Amino acid sequence: MAISQIEVSNLIKTYSSRAEELTVLRSISFKIARGEVVCFLGTSGSGKTTTLNLLAGIDKPTAGKIYYGGKDIHEWSTDQLFEYRLKEIGFIFQEFYLLEHLSALENVMVPIILDGESEEVAQDLALELLNQVGLGGRALNLPQELSSGEKQRVCVARAIVNNPSVLIADEPTGTLDSKTGGEIMSLLLRLAKKNKMAMIYTTHDPYFTKLASKIIVLQKGKIIEHSPDDFEDIGYDKSRFEFLFKGEKDE
Ligand SMILES: Nc1ncnc2c1ncn2[C@@H]1O[C@H](COP(=O)(O)OP(=O)(O)OP(=O)(O)O)[C@@H](O)[C@H]1O
Ligand SMILES: [Mg+2]
Repeated sequence: MAISQIEVSNLIKTYSSRAEELTVLRSISFKIARGEVVCFLGTSGSGKTTTLNLLAGIDKPTAGKIYYGGKDIHEWSTDQLFEYRLKEIGFIFQEFYLLEHLSALENVMVPIILDGESEEVAQDLALELLNQVGLGGRALNLPQELSSGEKQRVCVARAIVNNPSVLIADEPTGTLDSKTGGEIMSLLLRLAKKNKMAMIYTTHDPYFTKLASKIIVLQKGKIIEHSPDDFEDIGYDKSRFEFLFKGEKDE
């Protein structure tokens, strides 16, 4: 059997502060195959962002393993982990995290320059990507001059510019109206398919759960639902998830 692209085994995360210790992931395990579209669901505070940050190597688990292509990512050196974050993972944050003093173009150039390319190469590539996400005409604008939907497009371009194998999007539509959110989701899915990337996302919008080929539901740091691996039918027991959206969105 082929090795999963990502395999997570008994992951535990405890945040420690002066006041308390808070265990937010309680031994979760799952696998993600190449090209799979995986949606994490769960009420606020259930551990979705924590899970995505661990997968991306942005944060470290308290216990448990994350294997990427069969390799334990926490056995890697700092340099190897940096390479993993830079080249294998494209991350789209809910709050954009664009560098405010840099133009859209320069924001997209950052990962390419970090990867050692010249400014000229970075500029050409970044512009190509901005064109791909429909933002070529706004390349020289600062983030503050862009709408939320446009900022999110810059983030999408920045996330995919190094041609990652996994695209991770933490509530990519959270701050957008439903039409713009739909455009961003279809852009992400189109790019993921075209570039053969796995896509992992979270959402609070019931409609966007339908786009996944796998759904994993977290509750208080545990997996309480995991759709079957061959889940294609978007009608799969959808009523099971309704409780997650109660009072969150009226659509
Ligand atoms: N750096 C941190 N230090 C301490 N506690 C944290 C930290 N980050 C998250 N938490 C706590 O961990 C729990 C899970 O947070 P997480 O951000 O993973 O939830 P989430 O499912 O993404 O929620 P939301 O839907 O609101 O984004 C929450 O109780 C949160 O307060
Ligand atoms: Mg979150």
